[in-house]
Amino acid sequence: MTHTLENLAGNADAFPVLRHWDFYNHAGVSPMPAAVAEVLRQYADHAQRHAYLEAGVHRRLEALRQDCARLINARPAEVAFIKNTSEGIATIAKGLETSTGWQAGDRVVLPAVEYPANIYPWFDLRQRLGVELVMIPQSAGPDGRLRVPLDRVLEAADHPRTRLVAISHVQYATGQQADLATLGRHCRQGGRLLLVDAIQSAGVLPIDVQAMNIDFLAAGGHKWLMGPEGTGFLYVRQELIERVQPLAIGWMNVTNADDYSRLDFTYKPDARRYECGTLNVPGLLGLGASLRTLLELGTPALTARLRELTDHLIALLESRGARIASPRGPGEDSGIVSFEIPGRDPRELAAALRRRQIEVVVRDGRLRASPHFYNTPAQLERLVEALGA
Ligand SMILES: Cc1ncc(COP(=O)(O)O)c(C=O)c1O
Repeated sequence: MTHTLENLAGNADAFPVLRHWDFYNHAGVSPMPAAVAEVLRQYADHAQRHAYLEAGVHRRLEALRQDCARLINARPAEVAFIKNTSEGIATIAKGLETSTGWQAGDRVVLPAVEYPANIYPWFDLRQRLGVELVMIPQSAGPDGRLRVPLDRVLEAADHPRTRLVAISHVQYATGQQADLATLGRHCRQGGRLLLVDAIQSAGVLPIDVQAMNIDFLAAGGHKWLMGPEGTGFLYVRQELIERVQPLAIGWMNVTNADDYSRLDFTYKPDARRYECGTLNVPGLLGLGASLRTLLELGTPALTARLRELTDHLIALLESRGARIASPRGPGEDSGIVSFEIPGRDPRELAAALRRRQIEVVVRDGRLRASPHFYNTPAQLERLVEALGA
């Protein structure tokens, strides 16, 4: 069956979680779509009856590599599979260290409110090598919305010692979407590298690594991509592959990986050099099933659908006196809505909702709701009713 937004929205056969929960934490871990669960069942069924993987698995993994590349307008040769976003970011931080070196006083610019996956790899460089971190604080605008100001990031990027800017496409707590096109142009013109943590956007917001001048991008598969945990992909711009040493070395990084008796320590010429050994095959096959549906629906349609759902949610919340922290100007929005209900404790509210099978979470002291495209406006109305604001 051809997938459309119309036949998948509210469809509990395709998204069985709909039978059990009003689930709004896709910015955390997504419930598994039926198509992904089916792929995992088929994998398990085959694996318990036969000694080896089905013929064709390799081809399906390479098709997934192509799909990941298509999602962000990269070349398949620039895409490596990783087990999580952290591994991708650490590969870049350490990989640049080993091959080109970080000098004491080199600068990395990042928002102070990044998810720790994009902070600790840089703390490590600071502690061991004296790399300086310029952490741009978030501030509240007159509208009460929380933003990491782009002009502060650009200004810090311009410092002569800045080598790299590391930023989430979408901030995990506020949902602020970064203006990657402007940032990327600025970084490329100034000769700085740009690394993007795209786990909160990949699959649902447009990403074009070429047009946006992105050098490195890492995305785990278990949030908006709706794949299994332990999956993800890393993009390294072709021209930089020689400058980023693999983090872990094993049998698979090398050109003639399949010829065990002829040792030749020559890295693969493409991003597959970052894959050191056997991949998470079941997880990646599951991710492949989910990504295919998302690509079929198309990122522009998914972006528009999320805008529609989150606009609806925000209008309902504001009519009940909620304070919205997520910036929502053009190009600033995402699938994440961060809000407070004055006078109410967010933890108690989240606990009360959970007792009614409605899942939202607390991040940075505020409630965070992150619906996906298959949620419906009627469900969101139930959420706001249940908040009793
Ligand atoms: C912005 C961001 N980066 C990374 C992660 C998770 O990192 P990993 O894929 O390494 O578990 C999260 C999870 O909440 C996140 O919000």
